[in-house]
Amino acid sequence: MILKSHPSLKELSLNSYLFSDESMNLYEEYIQKTASYIQQFLSNRTFYQGDNLEEILANKEQAKLVNIEGNQTIDSALEELNDLYIKNAIAFHNPTYVAHLNCPITLPSIIAEMITTTINTAVETWDQSTSATFIEQEVIHWITNVFNLSENSDGVFTSGGTQSNFMAMLMARDNYAFKHFKINIKQHGWRSEINKFRIFCSEKAHFSIQKSAALLGMGYDAVIPVKVDKKMQMDVNELVLAIEKTKQEGNIPIAVVATLGTTDYGSFDRIQTIGKVAKEHNMWLHADGAYGGCYALTNTHKDYFKGIELVDSITIDFHKTLFQPVSCSAFLVNDKQHFQYVSYYADYLNPIEDKDPQRPNLIEKSIQTTRRFDALKVWLTLKTLGTKTIANYLEEVHSLTKTVYDNIKDQECFETVHEPALSTVVFRYKTEGITEDVIHNSINLYIKNTLYKAGKASIASTKLQGNIYLKFTLLNPKNTINNLLNIIEMIKTTGEQYKITN
Ligand SMILES: Cc1ncc(COP(=O)(O)O)c(C=O)c1O
Repeated sequence: MILKSHPSLKELSLNSYLFSDESMNLYEEYIQKTASYIQQFLSNRTFYQGDNLEEILANKEQAKLVNIEGNQTIDSALEELNDLYIKNAIAFHNPTYVAHLNCPITLPSIIAEMITTTINTAVETWDQSTSATFIEQEVIHWITNVFNLSENSDGVFTSGGTQSNFMAMLMARDNYAFKHFKINIKQHGWRSEINKFRIFCSEKAHFSIQKSAALLGMGYDAVIPVKVDKKMQMDVNELVLAIEKTKQEGNIPIAVVATLGTTDYGSFDRIQTIGKVAKEHNMWLHADGAYGGCYALTNTHKDYFKGIELVDSITIDFHKTLFQPVSCSAFLVNDKQHFQYVSYYADYLNPIEDKDPQRPNLIEKSIQTTRRFDALKVWLTLKTLGTKTIANYLEEVHSLTKTVYDNIKDQECFETVHEPALSTVVFRYKTEGITEDVIHNSINLYIKNTLYKAGKASIASTKLQGNIYLKFTLLNPKNTINNLLNIIEMIKTTGEQYKITN
């Protein structure tokens, strides 16, 4: 019997919106059209040239999904989208953007993204991904080699540092419970002993450690913050004291997190010394290298990685310091056996009977099911730019950061707090004659918000001992010292303005 296709379905197929070989003409047309919107976006001279806050709030109306059965053309929807979003988007590649951990991205990574998105490979099982599986494995192999991990090491791509840190804390918990109490948490769930488990990290570690402990049922209180020294590195004597105290209280130290590049200060905890302490106490050693991990590629920062082979697990974010689009991150373990704590064999996806090392199913290492082929962008970047070029970029942003620091550290109107180890500078503007911190706090917030609103510069702020400080995060190797000193001058002028207007 010949089935007659339904006319409306046929129409849909003909107009090519449901992507297939019939879509090629439109695909090429819209790549061109999209490129012209992107070109307008890139031609902006500052990080932001969009609407002011009131206008953006008014745009909320425009974003509403009303009249969606109206069959709007792609052209008109794109026009609308341009006004609503593209024009208002923050340009991370612009040298006036010095706020958060957003890097400019490589062209090969964008090409890879287009391919990944268009082909839409899902990498959870071999039958859905074939060679993509091997490309991801190869990228993982490359990065485990960079860190000198064992032959048994392995890893998986994740959505970001938060997810990677979560996986590390989960494995630390489940491994300790199994090794020391024969508790199989994955199978049987909670046991009272787990209430006593404690995790140690520096007081400057990323909040995702606390968040993971909470999500894993252990609570924020299971995380013991360890004091840092003047360099913002975990004080290892304090760590030893904190572990002893925890034991005396009847609790059980199970893991230490060493941060390789703290979010605010870029400081590196001493992995070798911390690693020895962790091993003495049978604790899991996790290195959170979300920010600083890629600096293992440089010549300038090699020493910070001495002892890295002692780790049980590592977090590394390629969307922070390998110039990759969001999201692109990996979680690595020194012993791949630990992936057993997240593995699951689903009849419909990866039945255990079909297990074959030649056709690996990456789902067995992930807490996600459907997963993007994010490894491709790293692979294409490495093939085309190579690690030396990336290392040069990273060394360049570190050098720019040091120059900014050297420039402001002796100026009366600035107070700096640390010598940058990576690519952040934390400082505050200080008005002469003012001693109250509350006023300094207001002035520094005023500076940050005024420069942002005027589209002149996007600077971050953070708190140190309850007070507001400004922060530069420099991830753009195309930035120049002249531009950065110009932002410093704008900070001074705006700080002075506050005095006059308030
Ligand atoms: C040290 C550190 N760890 C983890 C994270 C979380 O990473 P993500 O934002 O990719 O989840 C960050 C983010 O800034 C970070 O700086």
